[in-house]
Amino acid sequence: MILHHSTWPAVEAYLRKSSGIIVPMGSTEQHGPTGLIGTDSITAQTVAWAIGTHCGALVGPTLSLGPAQFNLGFPGTVSLRPSTLTRVIVDYVLSLASQGFRHFYFLNGHGGNLAPAQCAFQEIHAERSLASHARAAVHFRLRSWWDYPEAHALRQQLYGLGEGMHATPSELAITRALLPDACPPDELPPPPVLEPDFMKRHGGDNHDDAQAHRSRFPDGRVGSHSGLGLAEHGTQLVALAAQAGARDYAAFLAGEEGA
Ligand code: NI
Repeated sequence: MILHHSTWPAVEAYLRKSSGIIVPMGSTEQHGPTGLIGTDSITAQTVAWAIGTHCGALVGPTLSLGPAQFNLGFPGTVSLRPSTLTRVIVDYVLSLASQGFRHFYFLNGHGGNLAPAQCAFQEIHAERSLASHARAAVHFRLRSWWDYPEAHALRQQLYGLGEGMHATPSELAITRALLPDACPPDELPPPPVLEPDFMKRHGGDNHDDAQAHRSRFPDGRVGSHSGLGLAEHGTQLVALAAQAGARDYAAFLAGEEGA
């Protein structure tokens, strides 16, 4: 069930049986010479919609802008400040919480969203903890589609170190499965393999400024051999992530612990 495709009486009826909602989060940024600028939003929304279908869960509007300042040197990138995304998430959650939603499952497709999202969750918890009057508790879970163990294992098996960090073959494979006519052919050579220390320090898109980023990664890929990502891999990755996500969402609604 997709919020944008629903009426308010349908949402009111949904709330009588569930307090959960899935929120896809992506970005709008360059994804190398052959990757679509909407890759992170397209992938997150696709997996979220598939989880929603498995679980009969409502899926909210996709947050399709995220912090991507490091990619502003590439045309087409649109970035939010991290603090802006945090505020957007707070307002998104509190809007729905005011109507009775209590379980917010964020399905993420962009590393740079992780820290601002966690910050937003803490802001909301803090408002409740600091309030002098009682407010309903809300619950959060944040997952990136590539972190589900089955999806992670397939990425490792298919691409190894060629997965890299940005414009990854796995995310491009998903867009190639969904939008074959929009995706140009990819015969690019592999970019230099990233050092483990670099990957550790720059996890969650913790990159430097746009000028430094483009000069270090001139074609926009960060260690990712994008051409390895075939459409059939994308179909498999979405199916695995959606199955794992559906189990995880059900566990979340049942009150099982999980960060
Ligand atoms: Ni991406």
